[in-house]
Amino acid sequence: MKKQTFGVGDASYQAAGGIDGIQKLVSCFYDLMDSLPESQNIRAMHRKDLKIARSRLALFLSGWLGGPKLYQEQVGSISIPGFHRRFDIGSAEKEAWLNCMAKAIAEQRYSDEFKNYLLEQLSIPAERCRIRD
Ligand code: HEM
Repeated sequence: MKKQTFGVGDASYQAAGGIDGIQKLVSCFYDLMDSLPESQNIRAMHRKDLKIARSRLALFLSGWLGGPKLYQEQVGSISIPGFHRRFDIGSAEKEAWLNCMAKAIAEQRYSDEFKNYLLEQLSIPAERCRIRD
């Protein structure tokens, strides 16, 4: 099989299952953050109600994966490192976030190739949110 080129046009958005697939991923991600003991350090930084975070991360990932720029259209422009500077994110918090994401990705019906690609790509902005360690 020809190696897929994610990151070109909307290939990643399609591989993620479009907006429905992204919403499923994000929903799973925040359910894990809410329940895993090892992510309580980052859960505590979030508001009690995760509704806005759920909706906004999905809007953001749509554009970030090459699909419709929903966050920009519905909320405005955002710099991910700039937005997160108000939170005390070090290595442990970054790892906790990526751990929830890895587990959420593992639960999706994505190809192994896309699972690996997506987690690797998300580790780039995650690293840029870190302000200490
Ligand atoms: C590195 C670890 C990360 C931590 C600890 C973290 C933590 C947070 C927190 C505490 C909030 C606010 C939630 C609330 O208001 O209840 C938030 C919002 C958000 N995060 Fe992160 N985050 C991380 C990484 C990322 C990454 C890598 C992305 C993008 C790929 C991202 C995208 C967003 C978006 C789009 C929002 C919503 C912004 C808004 O309210 O308009 N985060 N994050």
